[in-house]
Amino acid sequence: MIKVNNLTKTFKGNSFIKSKSLVLDNVSLHIKKGITLGLIGESGCGKSTLGRAILKLLPCNSGEIYFDGNNITKYSSRDMIDLRKNMQIIFQHPDTSLNPSKTILFSLLEPILIHNLMDKNEAIEKIKEFLQYVHLKEEILSRYPHQISGGQIQRIALIRALLLKPKFIVLDEATSMLDVSVQAQIIQLLKKIQEEFGITYLFISHDLDLVTAFCDEIAVMNSGKIIEVGKNYDVYNNPQHDYTKKLIHTFKKFKD
Ligand SMILES: Nc1ncnc2c1ncn2[C@@H]1O[C@H](COP(=O)(O)OP(=O)(O)OP(=O)(O)O)[C@@H](O)[C@H]1O
Ligand SMILES: [Mg+2]
Repeated sequence: MIKVNNLTKTFKGNSFIKSKSLVLDNVSLHIKKGITLGLIGESGCGKSTLGRAILKLLPCNSGEIYFDGNNITKYSSRDMIDLRKNMQIIFQHPDTSLNPSKTILFSLLEPILIHNLMDKNEAIEKIKEFLQYVHLKEEILSRYPHQISGGQIQRIALIRALLLKPKFIVLDEATSMLDVSVQAQIIQLLKKIQEEFGITYLFISHDLDLVTAFCDEIAVMNSGKIIEVGKNYDVYNNPQHDYTKKLIHTFKKFKD
């Protein structure tokens, strides 16, 4: 589904700090169709940048990105319009992804209607069905983003992406604001939808237990490089790279 070859991304400095920072350092990655790849690594190592770069929400310096067999590296934002429905992202800070001046209903309806997926009445029925999946009441539809909680916004952002039945979703800390029981239900929903529609996920998270339980494979990132990729339990129980060993050890220590 996704193939990334030698992706490199630097962020420019400014007039005070002239130096450039290398955030993606020759990253190559393969995400097979229908699987969930977990992406782990300490804060600031480049996970969100990689997620956004794959979806072409950020320009890169060099490298190639393939989506479903097509080389999309040079696609303009115009070329991307048709593809956008098929590749969604749930941002780490979901409050920035909803329009503050529009109701939740508007934010959920708009993409469905723009992409002509169903008529308005059908869409509203579908939205109500998805709200039940994520344990939200219908009354939330008439509210504005500032009138709902962070965890509720995360769930709205999630169902908004899922309603479009994309082929690929980047889930960037998509369940981090939720308590364990709601989180478990969302994970179940993600799995159910994956089985039904064969969606591929890139799941970025700091919760290594959750990553291991939910993902088929895990990629480990350190300072802009992918240093290890393997099957979920292999990476968790038998990490090869010293950095991965340290990361998992630290996670386990703080968990206990
Ligand atoms: N637009 C930007 N301009 C300049 N530097 C940026 C920009 N976005 C990210 N960075 C820097 O790039 C590095 C990687 O950031 P990124 O958000 O990808 O990390 P991350 O692995 O997702 O971290 P976290 O786990 O904390 O979310 C960080 O040092 C960050 O400060
Ligand atoms: Mg991040």
